[in-house]
Amino acid sequence: MSTFKAPKGTYDLIPPDSAAYLAVREAIAAPLRRAGYGYAETPGFENVELFSRGVGESTDIVTKEMYTLTTKGGDELALRPEGTASVLRAALEANLHKAGNLPVKLWYSGSYYRYERPQAGRYRHFSQVGAEAIGAEDPALDAELVILAVDAYRSLGLRNFRLLLNSLGDKECRPVYRAALQDFLRGLDLDEDTRRRIDINPLRVLDDKRESVQKQLAGAPMMRDHLCEACRTYHEQVRELLTAAGVSFEDDPKLVRGLDYYTRTTFEFVHDGLGSQSAVGGGGRYDGLSEMIGGPSLPSVGWALGVDRTVLALRAEGVELDLPAVTQVYAVPLGEEARRTLFGLVTELRRAGVATDFAYGGKGLKNAMKSANRSGARLALVAGERDLAEGVVQLKDLDSGEQRAVPAAEAVTAVRSALG
Ligand code: HAM
Repeated sequence: MSTFKAPKGTYDLIPPDSAAYLAVREAIAAPLRRAGYGYAETPGFENVELFSRGVGESTDIVTKEMYTLTTKGGDELALRPEGTASVLRAALEANLHKAGNLPVKLWYSGSYYRYERPQAGRYRHFSQVGAEAIGAEDPALDAELVILAVDAYRSLGLRNFRLLLNSLGDKECRPVYRAALQDFLRGLDLDEDTRRRIDINPLRVLDDKRESVQKQLAGAPMMRDHLCEACRTYHEQVRELLTAAGVSFEDDPKLVRGLDYYTRTTFEFVHDGLGSQSAVGGGGRYDGLSEMIGGPSLPSVGWALGVDRTVLALRAEGVELDLPAVTQVYAVPLGEEARRTLFGLVTELRRAGVATDFAYGGKGLKNAMKSANRSGARLALVAGERDLAEGVVQLKDLDSGEQRAVPAAEAVTAVRSALG
């Protein structure tokens, strides 16, 4: 062990566990690719103002959880705590919205950073795969994104997740609701901190986990009773499209997300096997974000799914992912000449698409066969001087122990047919 450890709240992805993370990322991306989303990659850091304006000055993410730094050149930067503001910034900067094909559909995958109190499922460095559909207001687009997330979870074999759905209204009806909620909250018996929250971000009070607060919220006005006609119709259409696609959801009038940019459709995927950090993914519509960061009006919708928590959820359900074999064939040379011949075969097999490894470091037969077994390979190719003199290599089935000689020139064909 070295003197150093991974920083608090972080962990390393290393084999064999890392394979599941890769598989989860790929499984989330696959439905997006099939639905016309193009891949986007943005820097790991941005100007701090992008997030303070975009995610919101009153959110925990901006006030408490951002890793900020001042560069030697005096720039104020932040490690990205989320992807939406960055991806929208990138789309605007590249003028993708002017290319005439709206919505601009993008997906992304990467590391995000939040200075949170670490606990099971909550890390300071974590990984998301996300999708954003920029520049269109259409209930079918909201439904599309939700369906794609559900399909991704299902393709992984995840079952015990639930979809919570809400509408947060728009710039017409939300301010009216906000004022009504503030009035109600001011009449309650709340601590100093929570009272302050009533002024800056009253909707977040609905999300307070404490029972003493929840009890008092019983008669609180709910957004769904204050939606304007346009928002109500929009939400109804989203719900109908989801139902028609066989996606079940729970209406959660108290669902408030931890980012300020949301309007109308908001949703969260929760998994009941995860304890308190139960949100495996979330998202919604953010019709005002583009203008908040200095762009034109571009109604948009998106989500991000947490890769770490999805892996934890799969583990909680005992789902075994169907991962590709790391090594299918393991080559064991006995002697210098066999090294050259088998190394050549290894390269050929790999080029033919067979996952192949080689006993490096001049191991003896016994040690090399141990490594072959540990590698998980189904077949071993073994060759010594006598085999080479006869122009053959030994093909050994590592499960049954059966072994037969095959002409060296036909080894690749023989391996491929033995693998089936
Ligand atoms: P979010 O709900 O903040 O949304 O994060 C999405 C997911 O990332 C969460 O559901 C969770 O699975 C994972 N996640 C968040 N924080 C942590 C953490 N500290 N440790 C482990 N996993 C975590 C967003 O980030 C929005 N940008 C989603 C979005 C996209 N909305 C519209 N477009």
